[in-house]
Amino acid sequence: MTLLVTGARGKVGRAVIGRLHSAGLTVRAASGTPAELAVPKGVETIELALDRPEGLDAAFHGVRQVFLYPQPSGIHELVKAAEEAGVKHVVLLSSSSVLGPDAEDDPLASHSLRVEHALAASALTCTFLRPDAFASNSLGWTRSIGRSLPVQLAYPDAHTAPIHPEDIADIAVEALTGTSLTGRSLTLTGPESLTFREQLALLSEVLGRDIPVERLTRAEAEQQMGAYAPASVVSSLLDLWEAADHGPAAIADTVETLLGRPARTYRQWARENAPAFTRH
Ligand SMILES: NC(=O)c1ccc[n+]([C@@H]2O[C@H](COP(=O)([O-])OP(=O)(O)OC[C@H]3O[C@@H](n4cnc5c(N)ncnc54)[C@H](OP(=O)(O)O)[C@@H]3O)[C@@H](O)[C@H]2O)c1
Repeated sequence: MTLLVTGARGKVGRAVIGRLHSAGLTVRAASGTPAELAVPKGVETIELALDRPEGLDAAFHGVRQVFLYPQPSGIHELVKAAEEAGVKHVVLLSSSSVLGPDAEDDPLASHSLRVEHALAASALTCTFLRPDAFASNSLGWTRSIGRSLPVQLAYPDAHTAPIHPEDIADIAVEALTGTSLTGRSLTLTGPESLTFREQLALLSEVLGRDIPVERLTRAEAEQQMGAYAPASVVSSLLDLWEAADHGPAAIADTVETLLGRPARTYRQWARENAPAFTRH
């Protein structure tokens, strides 16, 4: 039986594919741009844009387990195609943001929440993985750090509990290959609450050089981030960080409880990814 992994170029998708393949399972890697995929030999690749129906039947053919990245556009067509193909279990890479008070109206949270709702209303059994911020979001700082420029932030003292993407992958594989996590919604965080400033201090220690931080006004951050993301998403992110400015992020012990070992630390992520900050 084949396992389908969507978002195959993504940090979690890639790690899930590697683990399943190493375990001797048959994996199909689906990506919006399969030509750019680097998958282990023996892994089948397929083109699938989650917001378009073309390719769904081929992607689900012979599949019982799916690792799904959230994409609300086209989710009803995707659910129907999965049901018709005989898919049994979907493990969704959702987000802890769905637990927020205004998740339905928030552009970031509702992206994952709408997919959760469509899956919950289907005949498929599901596992919802709800991670906090990924440690890998720090890759957004590679350009500044690599050029020895200050990292510019509107809320440098905002707290998150950054989770290592490999920990999400470990739990996703547990959910895809066993039955103990079927039907569960799991909040996942890293082992400690760290402000952006503290994350940068850890990176600075690992890289062995200073990383200056420059505070931006909200208006400056809006303008800067607006070059890469829609205004509603920028505003939602800035609201999230503003709210996170006031105290430590909640820590969930899910990773340790489910995997029987401590969650990977941000320092570990920083050590593993140090070369990315010196290449620019
Ligand atoms: N980042 C966070 O802090 C966070 C927190 C909670 C939840 N999440 C959820 O996790 C999901 C992914 O997280 P992420 O945004 O950090 O990204 P990611 O997993 O690294 O990549 C997201 C997807 O973007 C596509 N992509 C397009 N261009 C790419 C490129 N040049 N390199 C790699 N992938 C590329 C890939 O799909 P294809 O291969 O199909 O093109 C990939 O799976 C999101 O849906 C988000 O809602 C993220």
